[in-house]
Amino acid sequence: MKSWGEALGRSASAHFSRVGRLRRAMLLLAVAACTGVALLYWRQQTGDQAHRPLHSLYSGVEPQWSWVCRNERCERLLATETTILQSLATCNMLCASTQLWPQPTGPVSLATAAVPVRADAFTLQIRSSPSRDVSDHLSDAFTLFIEDLKSLERTGSSESRRSDIGPSRDVIVRVAVNGSADPRLRLETNESYKLTLRPGDGVLYVDITAYSFCGARHAYETLSQLIWIDPYAGSLLALEAASIEDAPKFKFRGLLLDTARNFFPLNEILRTIDAMAANKLNTFHWHISDSQSFPLKLNSAPQLTQHGAYGPGAIYTTDDVRTVVRRARLRGVRVLIEVDTPAHVGRAWAWGPAAGLGPLAHCIEVEPWSAYCGEPPCGQLNPKNPHVYKILEHVYSEIIQLTGVDDIFHLGGDEVSERCWTQHFNDTDPMDLWLEFTRRAMLSLQRANKGKLPEVTLLWSSRLTRSPYLERLDKKHFAIQVWGASRWPESRAVLDMGFRSIISHVDAWYLDCGFGSWRDSSDGHCGPYRSWQQIYEHRPWIEEMPGMSTGAEPWLIDGGEVCLWTEQSGPGGLDARLWPRSAAVAERLWSDRPEGATADVYLRLDTQRSRLVAKGIEAMPLWPRWCTHNPNACL
Ligand SMILES: *[C@@H]1O[C@H](CO)[C@@H](O)[C@H](O)[C@H]1NC(C)=O
Ligand SMILES: *[C@@H]1O[C@H](CO)[C@@H](O)[C@H](O)[C@H]1NC(C)=O
Ligand SMILES: *[C@@H]1O[C@H](CO)[C@@H](O)[C@H](O)[C@H]1NC(C)=O
Repeated sequence: MKSWGEALGRSASAHFSRVGRLRRAMLLLAVAACTGVALLYWRQQTGDQAHRPLHSLYSGVEPQWSWVCRNERCERLLATETTILQSLATCNMLCASTQLWPQPTGPVSLATAAVPVRADAFTLQIRSSPSRDVSDHLSDAFTLFIEDLKSLERTGSSESRRSDIGPSRDVIVRVAVNGSADPRLRLETNESYKLTLRPGDGVLYVDITAYSFCGARHAYETLSQLIWIDPYAGSLLALEAASIEDAPKFKFRGLLLDTARNFFPLNEILRTIDAMAANKLNTFHWHISDSQSFPLKLNSAPQLTQHGAYGPGAIYTTDDVRTVVRRARLRGVRVLIEVDTPAHVGRAWAWGPAAGLGPLAHCIEVEPWSAYCGEPPCGQLNPKNPHVYKILEHVYSEIIQLTGVDDIFHLGGDEVSERCWTQHFNDTDPMDLWLEFTRRAMLSLQRANKGKLPEVTLLWSSRLTRSPYLERLDKKHFAIQVWGASRWPESRAVLDMGFRSIISHVDAWYLDCGFGSWRDSSDGHCGPYRSWQQIYEHRPWIEEMPGMSTGAEPWLIDGGEVCLWTEQSGPGGLDARLWPRSAAVAERLWSDRPEGATADVYLRLDTQRSRLVAKGIEAMPLWPRWCTHNPNACL
């Protein structure tokens, strides 16, 4: 233990991370290779004794501000008024809060001292792995982790650089995965991990244990949050010791992006997946088609894009999808592609008669649209045309093959217009048609999935998921994505009936709300804007709702999902719509801490936002930069 203190004395932190009057008690669970003892260890940081003229240490612009940790908060001082020079980033990391996001759910101990590291001095050792596939994923994900560190390192090099930060440490990352041989995120994947970081002789040792590739990958992500760029040092710094145990509270932590209302180029999607992974969100719900456009070019049904895409520049090829899936898999994210049916279809399905297949859809672009659908244009599949189910089988089969996700599937299934079907099939109750469509779509899915239904098939909540129709859906196969307002009774009915569910309440987790109407009639859009605090504080699973205990089944909530419908967003504004608000959902679903948006949450989210910005994600500020410069002063 003493050697840690000595290491500190020799290291950079003696010169630039020392701050006046900081005292902090910390418990370090040192998993020393030979002894494995836990030690209680106090570190007292005292004022800088070096008293070197600051300007002699810099080759570039001299820093204007310095931050010192006093009473567990960083205080900003003019650099000329202090002999201690410490950046805000370093002060935040070494002062009071953990700065981790999402907050781990198990025990956490962090050192209050830092050592310099270099991105090119990290090595990976795979100690044990259940399969070659998992080992390959561990290596490839580690390469991504290093690339992220390198780009972070480059952001420091343009600023002033100090010459006295001491030698940097090599970092040896040792990973042991004991569990699933399948690197994919599955419904049963155990995402927990343990991470320890401790100094050795001129080296930092990182030990990661997990039960799956995804768990180990989350550990990389947490490790990356213990490393930051010190702009004054022009170098990466890492905490010199840490011990973290962590596991998510909810297993489904999703983000929906609609690429049908407006098209998003591939790089926007890849960047979004990187940002999701940085927050340990694990499901990219790709609402890829709607009545406005069908950008997914499938080999089995190219007509859908020919008739449905906005243009040649607004198409996702199968290679594009593979690129997204590959990136997502290395980030511990599943890609859940939803081709919404039977409603929310449009011109993409208009080629049936010309191809000799009869009408595949009805009410395509019918007027007045408001009589047949929630927003223009309308369109609804023809539930009585057998060719529809054959095409769906091919579409589903290709989606499963492209994404490698066969344990969970999304059928869509919301907002059917009863009037549209009644006009075409006046001898059948439209609700019966809807049930029949759902049953036959499930048969298509089963055939597409080699004769086996996925463990979970998701449907959006709708009239079909209300009594008396809900009773006619099989709980063994269907789960409901509940999007209605949290106070709507049907939001509860599916839970009380014992259906598995994913929560996406419109009044909490819809990111498209609050931007006014995009058409002259003002009905149909949602408002107001959902702030990150409202998003964070939404915990419908603990709400005391009347009648909650009256003989209802236990609620089976697999998780939640934040949704961005894109009537009013496009590539230019994507990041600001999503971030940092999606990070708020991510912590709700990973940690589910009972507290609301406390001061600690503001400070950690502000740090997380800076991390996203450093990754090139244009997340919105939480507040004026002055509040970032003066932590706690705005709270
Ligand atoms: C994996 O876990 C099992 C059960 O906990 C244990 O018996 C086994 O020794 C572990 N294997 C390795 C390589 O750690
Ligand atoms: C993961 O597996 C370990 C070992 O079997 C178990 O202790 C832990 O509860 C599991 N965690 C989750 C989230 O399932
Ligand atoms: C039902 O539709 C058929 C064929 O479109 C039409 O001949 C018939 O009059 C309709 N019946 C009613 C009650 O609208």
